[in-house]
Amino acid sequence: MTLHMVDVVGQYRKIKSEIDAAIHKVLDSGKFVLGKEVGEFECKIAGYLGVKYAVGCASGTDALQIAMMAMGIGPGDEVITTPFTFVATTETIVLLGAKPVYIDIDTKTFNIDPSRVEKAITSRTKAIIPVHLYGQPADMDPIMNIARQHRLRVIEDAAQAIGSSYKGKKVCTFGDVGCISYFPSKNLGAFGDAGMVVTNDAAVWEKMRMIANHGSRERYHHEILGVNSRLDTIQAAVLTVKLHHLEEWNSARQRAAARYDELLRGTPVTVPYVSPACQHIFHQYTIRVPRRDALAAFLKEKSIPHAIYYPIPLHLQRAFKLAGSKKGDFPITEKAAEEVISLPMHTELTEEQIVFITDAIKEFYRSH
Ligand SMILES: Cc1ncc(COP(=O)(O)O)c(C=O)c1O
Repeated sequence: MTLHMVDVVGQYRKIKSEIDAAIHKVLDSGKFVLGKEVGEFECKIAGYLGVKYAVGCASGTDALQIAMMAMGIGPGDEVITTPFTFVATTETIVLLGAKPVYIDIDTKTFNIDPSRVEKAITSRTKAIIPVHLYGQPADMDPIMNIARQHRLRVIEDAAQAIGSSYKGKKVCTFGDVGCISYFPSKNLGAFGDAGMVVTNDAAVWEKMRMIANHGSRERYHHEILGVNSRLDTIQAAVLTVKLHHLEEWNSARQRAAARYDELLRGTPVTVPYVSPACQHIFHQYTIRVPRRDALAAFLKEKSIPHAIYYPIPLHLQRAFKLAGSKKGDFPITEKAAEEVISLPMHTELTEEQIVFITDAIKEFYRSH
């Protein structure tokens, strides 16, 4: 049986004619940068999420950087965030000269534990960046309450969570800015790198729009420091087609997750916890397991794809050289990094494949 961690080609084949037509339209227009499809897609996403403004950019990483630049975050500032996420969340803070201040995660959801936020606030704190990890929203009510009390900005890293909701409201609508990644493997994935920032704040929107395009509104008039980070017209055209399928695809992932849950019942595996406040869209199906590395080796032997998101927490990454950071600082994160493993999760998973994967896991725990 051929299994994929993510089946982007299988998904493309099902909507090939729609996608190909959209791409050819752009090819014929010759407007590869900031063509009309970009603006149309921005409007569609804003409508889908329920926000006023959206600005396409080149990646989810750039989205985080653009959001922070628009808020004037720079040297001397501190940003509270999670050490258990993809590198981009910290990378962009450090690139801007600011300091990431980590707080440990919630054991069950893997998202930042809001009860730890207040203790991490100092006179230098400018913002909080909660990450909606694996497709489940962070606990936004307490985070927003603390942010309001302390006048902090909130930037939602929704790279993994487009379409998920918290207490009935979609992610990206809580903070000052929501950051989206359209990396090909994401629930709404482009055919290359792509990203977006969304907001309800007109002033922030205007700044982000300028920053993403060399700090200019009018060609060759550069009002603020910017970057070159635009959403390609071809990607916007692809994403517009795919957006029509997003709800149905997120439901397919939820059904696959429910089936995994069912079939893993009675094993030593801890299946993903879904908070009653959240609608989880299962960008990843991540379980917590005993003897993780031996299980990974066993799955590899059986050619079952799997991945560890993330094996090294960010406070222990050499790249950032964070003064004083050491093993033991964030024990819940460090334990998660040793115990998590993600199983194949995508819209094309079949019942037969899920049974095959879960049978292998059961076999491992019977024989080890
Ligand atoms: C939590 C998180 N933040 C940011 C990013 C960055 O997005 P991109 O790969 O589009 O730059 C990712 C991408 O994987 C991510 O998972």
